[in-house]
Amino acid sequence: MSELRRLSAKDVEELRVLLRVCWLDTYTGLLSDSVIQTTLNVWQSRESLLRGLRNPRAYYAGWVDGGRIVGMVSAGMIDPTKMKVFQMYVLPSHQRKGIGSRLMDSAVQHFPQARSATLEVTEGNAKGISFYRKYGFDYPGTTLVEIDGERVPCLVGKMDLHR
Ligand SMILES: CC(C)(COP(=O)(O)OP(=O)(O)OC[C@H]1O[C@@H](n2cnc3c(N)ncnc32)[C@H](O)[C@@H]1OP(=O)(O)O)[C@@H](O)C(=O)NCCC(=O)NCCS
Repeated sequence: MSELRRLSAKDVEELRVLLRVCWLDTYTGLLSDSVIQTTLNVWQSRESLLRGLRNPRAYYAGWVDGGRIVGMVSAGMIDPTKMKVFQMYVLPSHQRKGIGSRLMDSAVQHFPQARSATLEVTEGNAKGISFYRKYGFDYPGTTLVEIDGERVPCLVGKMDLHR
């Protein structure tokens, strides 16, 4: 049985494992080992994830398949009319089954006040770039995200939410 549900602090360890698997699969060879390790050990530490999961303004949702979290999204409002997708990960074994699209739909529905959505996706992350483009995002700009003293080039995705 599968379902989409909000994630809470009690999901932190399972979420950490999911993010580790997805990060290594997505970014090995694309980002340096030190950027990957810093992200996993600092940005996605138990403490950082708990802060996010406990933030009442943040939206964390997971796709649960057979009792196991196999995909996740996190998002929040960054100004009164703009939402930002912070993370979107589906286990490699469960990709291309529509899970990412359903997670995106749920995040968009969670913030009915949002008139537009934005995100950053690492340059060279072909899956992520294709997925967001298919969903309706354009890439009007680029930015550098600093991680562990390195500047990681990213595309800035934007989408108007017509509602
Ligand atoms: C990006 C990601 C979340 C998509 O999740 P998903 O569940 O596989 O996505 P869906 O099955 O809903 O795909 C929807 C559409 O996106 C596009 N898409 C998805 N994966 C793709 C891929 N590997 N290559 C090309 N297009 C792709 C397709 O158009 C697809 O529709 P289709 O299968 O009918 O052709 C998933 O591939 C993933 O976790 N990737 C690694 C992490 C990542 O890049 N996250 C985003 C950056 S933060």
